[in-house]
Amino acid sequence: MRKTIIAGNWKMNKTNAEAVEMLTELKGLVAGIENVGIVIGAPFTALSDAVRAVEGSNIEIAAENVYPKESGAYTGEVSPLMLKSIGVKYVILGHSERREYFHESDEFINEKVKAVLAAGMLPILCIGEKLEDRESGRTAEVTETQIRGGLKGLTAEEAAKVVVAYEPVWAIGTGKTATPEMAQETHRQVRDVLVSMFGEAVAEEMTIQYGGSMKPENAVELLAQKDIDGGLIGGASLKAASFAEIVKAGK
Ligand code: PGA
Repeated sequence: MRKTIIAGNWKMNKTNAEAVEMLTELKGLVAGIENVGIVIGAPFTALSDAVRAVEGSNIEIAAENVYPKESGAYTGEVSPLMLKSIGVKYVILGHSERREYFHESDEFINEKVKAVLAAGMLPILCIGEKLEDRESGRTAEVTETQIRGGLKGLTAEEAAKVVVAYEPVWAIGTGKTATPEMAQETHRQVRDVLVSMFGEAVAEEMTIQYGGSMKPENAVELLAQKDIDGGLIGGASLKAASFAEIVKAGK
């Protein structure tokens, strides 16, 4: 059975104290939920305290980026080993904000996916079309290029560990959500690409999250779609109550 994973993406938000406060509240709200993976992506500075704050609970911590080298002269960067050593479980990669503002290419993201897997963590690979792609009917083509590029060279066994997050760029932080039918259609296309790359058995087991203005009000309907296996949540993950409601919608 495919696993439902609800992941928060705090982006560049929260000091350590704010992170610990939110996670402490969240732990109480989601205690006992076992059939949904619960993940919070926090900024680098808060990761150590975040891991400690969720110890012994059903919440796991994700980093929001990594540099794909083991160590060395890369001033300002953070390696997979550094994240692994403090107890980080997932790494969000290829988010549209990183593609847009930091010019990350599919090749570079692919290096990161491999480095995260090699270090024993799990990548959350973000893909998604821009508004102009959707309007010109290029959604399937763009997402296929990102999937093939991001997962290039992986074995089926490695691919099985990857979570894919489909996030239409025009829906991120805009309050505009893809309709459940629209999202389902793209999720199915993405899964078909995964089938052609890694085979049916692996592709059917891979978690494909939806992201882009997911909130308590629309989560149930989105998560009811056959190929939507969770969510990557920005704005609505900043408060424990709204994030916990989305987790409950995933149950
Ligand atoms: P949003 O962000 O939920 O605020 O739209 C989602 C994301 O960027 O992962």
